Amino acid sequence: MEKNKKENDLMEKIVSLCKRRGFVFPGSEIYGGLAGTWDWGHFGVALKNNIQQYWWKKFVDSRRDMYGIDAAILMRQEVWQNAGHVENFADPMVECEKCKSRFRIDQIENKEKCENCGGKLVEAQKFNMMFQTRIGASEDSSAVSYLRPETAQGMFVNFKNTVDAFHPKLPFGMAQIGKAFRNEITPRDFLFRVREFEQMEIEYFIRNEDWEKYFEYWRGEMMDFMEEVGIDMAKVHEIEVGDGDRAHYSSRTIDFEFDFPFGQKELFGLAYRTDFDLKNHKLEYIDEEKGEKIVPHVIEPTFGVGRAVLAVLLSAYHEEEKEGEIRAYLKLKPNIAPVICAVSPLLKNKPELVEYANIKVYAPLKAEFGRVAWDDNGNIGKRYRRQDEIGTPFCIVVDFDTLEDNTVTVRDRDTGEQERVKVSELKNYIKERI
Ligand code: GAP
Repeated sequence: MEKNKKENDLMEKIVSLCKRRGFVFPGSEIYGGLAGTWDWGHFGVALKNNIQQYWWKKFVDSRRDMYGIDAAILMRQEVWQNAGHVENFADPMVECEKCKSRFRIDQIENKEKCENCGGKLVEAQKFNMMFQTRIGASEDSSAVSYLRPETAQGMFVNFKNTVDAFHPKLPFGMAQIGKAFRNEITPRDFLFRVREFEQMEIEYFIRNEDWEKYFEYWRGEMMDFMEEVGIDMAKVHEIEVGDGDRAHYSSRTIDFEFDFPFGQKELFGLAYRTDFDLKNHKLEYIDEEKGEKIVPHVIEPTFGVGRAVLAVLLSAYHEEEKEGEIRAYLKLKPNIAPVICAVSPLLKNKPELVEYANIKVYAPLKAEFGRVAWDDNGNIGKRYRRQDEIGTPFCIVVDFDTLEDNTVTVRDRDTGEQERVKVSELKNYIKERI
């Protein structure tokens, strides 16, 4: 009971911090909100971009065997028919006899009684989670299309283009970061289950006989990524997904689950998609060295961006009590933090401090690191509290001593300790620590 309350409180604190500090806002809020949608504010975009850029650098830029792609969200309906999504991308549902609320059976604890009104739950029709739309002015069925529910198909349909353009040898991969849409029946838990989200996905093409080796390899890569972006690995669990529970295309899946405050739930996934997709799209690969035609098999590491952000935030959130006051701070890794350092003149009504801070400290750091904030709002204590909640590793203050000796105070977010650093040394000081 006590634990549940603490966990609920933590979730409330994260949601409120995200809104207050400009990370994430409820979608369409001024019109009452739109369930399952969230808008990213200035610091949220920065945090999300940093995670995405780190992913891209690790899995695309620093490898020889990976090809990036940014495919259109809208694709012909045949893509989804042949991929099996028109038929299978549906969840078993139940409906309340009384109030007609619908729930995904795997997402509710009480499978008999409605959580809204206590009415009896009965089996409902399957509900396809793809958002349907129409392309162009025509009303006939040939105009039907879908907002993609996974980025993966954008890679499969460009498999031939990629092979023709780059002539890669097996094994090789395709990588994509982009939006996906699912008409979730019960969106909930902040960024965890939403209707519009982003995925970072890899389709890694291999020879059939190598699948176990590469499955293991990607399992390790995924774990490394989680640790590198600051996800608390003590809260990550690997779950083997059973036969009846896997997606229609997978013959082996591991879910990486995270201890969210609302339960241990899927964070990312790793699937062995066999040759299911390439076969269905009638695609093949010619191995020129061996002189044979094959349909490669696929290992798919998949990462939800919103869930990554949420797990990073939950892992980073810390509170400590000091002199009867609670200090909350996000212990984000500097490579992921939205702001690397904030620069403040001690007093904003002293032009000599403002000018020094602006020209000699802020401008050169901004040019070097980009993610540098100017903060002269409120007193120094308030500025520290704000930057702690944003997760800024260093706060730099220009005071009257600075004008005499060209040193500034640098305060460390995690320890709260302060030291004097020469202005000429600041860039190196920060570089060494990030
Ligand atoms: N291409 C494979 C695929 O889409 P998935 O397990 O359905 O597999 C991949 O989704 C990842 O996308 C999940 O591990 C999760 O991180 C994220 N995800 C899925 N549905 C989501 C939703 N409704 N809201 C937020 N993230 C979601």
